[in-house]
Amino acid sequence: MVKKEREFVHLKRQLELQNKKLQHIFKIGRASVAILSSEKPEKLNSVLQEIIDEATEVLNSEVGSILLFEPKSDIMTIRVAKGLDEDIIKKTRLKTGERISGWVAKHKEAILVKDIEEDTRFSPRSLERYYTKSLISAPIMIDRHVLGVININNKGNRQVFDEEDLDLLGAVAAQAALIISNVNLYKELQRLYMNTVEALAEAIDARDHYTKSHSEHVTEYTVAIANEMGLPQKKIEIIERASKLHDIGKIGIHDYILNKPGKLTKDEWEEVKTHSLKGARILEPLAFLDGVIGTVKQHHERYDGTGYPDKIKGDKIRIEARIMAAADAFDAMITERPYAAAKTQEEAIEELKKESGKQFDPKVVKAFLKVLEKRGK
Ligand SMILES: [Fe+2]
Ligand SMILES: [Fe+2]
Repeated sequence: MVKKEREFVHLKRQLELQNKKLQHIFKIGRASVAILSSEKPEKLNSVLQEIIDEATEVLNSEVGSILLFEPKSDIMTIRVAKGLDEDIIKKTRLKTGERISGWVAKHKEAILVKDIEEDTRFSPRSLERYYTKSLISAPIMIDRHVLGVININNKGNRQVFDEEDLDLLGAVAAQAALIISNVNLYKELQRLYMNTVEALAEAIDARDHYTKSHSEHVTEYTVAIANEMGLPQKKIEIIERASKLHDIGKIGIHDYILNKPGKLTKDEWEEVKTHSLKGARILEPLAFLDGVIGTVKQHHERYDGTGYPDKIKGDKIRIEARIMAAADAFDAMITERPYAAAKTQEEAIEELKKESGKQFDPKVVKAFLKVLEKRGK
């Protein structure tokens, strides 16, 4: 009976331990789903930090780190750590083969070191700075390609690590590898998409001689107006990008409509009006451009609330889009169009003033007039 009782207690303890470990792994899994569904690759570091925090906790350690190879290089640096001095985090740079992390990266295998001083795999010289006796370390790899290494050290206040700990670290490393490679893949896809979108924007400008260099001119105006208004750098970057891409939705409008000499029918005009929304949709996969997407979507809203697509009004329209509306209209006015002769600069300025408070934000018009005045000098 006593034996049975002991067995029961043992099993119960075992179950608790396993449950605790699973909880941690589950948390890490959830963090990785969060990062991938938020489509924010810049969150990678915070997820890796979460992984190292969880891993050290479950392994009852106070010190751990994740090292990753720098892009296209043989150098690993510490991306996240727990319990390490800031100085070590900043200065550590390891090549394949160097020290323990380098050894793990080179041999592509996880190691359990029970007593660092007695382990014959490492020369004592290379370990001078090691302050822990026992450690576990596992390669973070995908298809035998090593992305980095995860290390967990104990500080001597605990018994040495065992095989079970090593297995757990292996599982954590496998999850980290999946997250990192997914994020890398995602970043690469975004980069390719961005290139295509930019090429497309240029092609749209180029295919129609009426709008040639239109986006370029609009960009010059909007950035100058934003600076004149003293907008923060972040908003200026958004407006610059949005200006270059603002008419990208025209790729979804029939050529014959865009190039039609003379007036558009009501239906044709309705189709032209879909381009701001279509543009926003094209940019949607580039989630990191959220401010840009909103600006593209709103660039034909009017200050008095009679624009499109959402008929929003006043300050409800992003400031970047209010600026763009004025710059876009101004460039259109002074350019010859299939349906209208070009206005002179003076006539276009009169139009800006006339529409101030109606089509355009008065603050934007004021800044724009200053910009034009400075340019005229
Ligand atoms: Fe437009
Ligand atoms: Fe435009």
